[in-house]
Amino acid sequence: MTATSDSPASGPAASATKRVFIQTYGCQMNVYDSERMKDVLAPLGYGPAETPDGADLVVLNTCHIREKATEKVYSEVGRLKKLKDAKAADGGKMMIAVAGCVAQAEGAEIMRRAPAVDMVVGPQAYHKLPELVARAARASGEALETSFDVVEKFDALPASRQLEGPSAFLSVQEGCDKFCTFCVVPYTRGAEHSRGADAVLAEARMLAAQGAREIVLLGQNVNAWHGAAPAIDGAGSWDLGRLIRQVALVGGIDRIRYTTSHPGDMDDSLFEAHGAVPELMPYLHLPVQSGSDRVLKAMNRKHDATSYLDIVARMRAARPDIAMASDFIVGFPGETERDFEDTMALVRAVGFASAYSFKYSRRPGTPAAEMLGQVPEEVKDARLQALQALLMEQQVAFNASKVGATVPVLVTGKGRHPGQMLGKSPWLQSVHFDGPDSLMGQIVDVAIVAAGRNSLTGELPGDLSGGRKAA
Ligand code: SAH
Ligand code: SF4
Ligand code: F3S
Repeated sequence: MTATSDSPASGPAASATKRVFIQTYGCQMNVYDSERMKDVLAPLGYGPAETPDGADLVVLNTCHIREKATEKVYSEVGRLKKLKDAKAADGGKMMIAVAGCVAQAEGAEIMRRAPAVDMVVGPQAYHKLPELVARAARASGEALETSFDVVEKFDALPASRQLEGPSAFLSVQEGCDKFCTFCVVPYTRGAEHSRGADAVLAEARMLAAQGAREIVLLGQNVNAWHGAAPAIDGAGSWDLGRLIRQVALVGGIDRIRYTTSHPGDMDDSLFEAHGAVPELMPYLHLPVQSGSDRVLKAMNRKHDATSYLDIVARMRAARPDIAMASDFIVGFPGETERDFEDTMALVRAVGFASAYSFKYSRRPGTPAAEMLGQVPEEVKDARLQALQALLMEQQVAFNASKVGATVPVLVTGKGRHPGQMLGKSPWLQSVHFDGPDSLMGQIVDVAIVAAGRNSLTGELPGDLSGGRKAA
């Protein structure tokens, strides 16, 4: 969710005459968008750059969710300016583009504060990148595009995709109408919009044809997805459970995940899909934020602790081995010690396989920023530490529970050590094991022999070359 990843662009290298480097911050939506930006830029002759050094175009795909995330952009532009100046001294030109949620939120202000920036492009305007690049290159002046038309964005993006492994993101829903009082997403990503089922299924088939084995359906509120039904299905709309059943029928797709969901949008169809669709992985990332009903109300979350626990119980009834994951915020304005204890109690009641937890960060323009009872930093620190200790304890226990089991692992790449491969368990755990490169992209049974905080170690059953045998 808050992963930061370097994503060197890919494209038809043969025809590439220029190089683009894209740095991605924030959530999976941004990771997906970065891939799509590469797709848009490839026909313009932009191929991958492994580093920003010497690149013709550097794109910072930014995140606005917490204050720290936003600050990063300006310090990064400062670093890039040195590379840009160095390139200019050599007679070359490096363009700097700021994309993503900071671009949407701050717009032209970015170019005023950081004149080294040539382009600002919001999340709904990536299809206009070629035009912006041309404008910026011509005028060596500014180019700004933060219009808000999601429909146009998806319609105008190229049909082909460059894959970076057997697991592919597929964005099905953007924006959010929930207006949690702490959150900037409704302002940076705009109103909720679902892509139609036809477009989603076409993209799924294309991904499968290019070798994807796993599809991760993405949305800020993915379980609110309600897309137009396929033309052959007549009028009306589908829900996410229906879409998942259909994606499962796409040849070659063996695993489906979806992220991220809101507790207010869990419906019967989705519970049923978890019970009935074997391709749907037993993992649910369902942010709860707090275990205190008082705080949840102030957050405008539209669920309480009891309704969250009910969802977990129903999910476990539908799919007993499901792993629960969540997001938490500590130190929301007005949060008392008692409220925090309610959060700890909810965590104990659920038992999470993994979780993200954050100190509340005051975001200008959101209702919570103006609330009374802002919590002192040292209190937030102490609560975060206590919460993370408990969550880590649960994560370690969950990982340990797989030792001795044989689990199907989707092999996604090479491990750190020679001869080692890396993959994902159904419960989204990283698994490393010794095995040949030829397993890349396959789903193989691995006997789990050890578990750590963040990964599992396994062995291929019957593999004598691995040395130690699985128990
Ligand atoms: N609906 C999306 C939300 C994306 S934001 C989702 O559920 O994934 C991801 C997480 O960031 C939120 O779940 C929340 O825990 C955290 N977050 C959002 N705004 C925040 C803020 N102002 N301060 C601290 N954490 C925040
Ligand atoms: Fe933000 Fe709430 Fe919407 Fe999630 S549901 S994106 S936390 S406003
Ligand atoms: Fe960040 Fe925007 Fe995602 S604010 S979390 S990149 S939707």
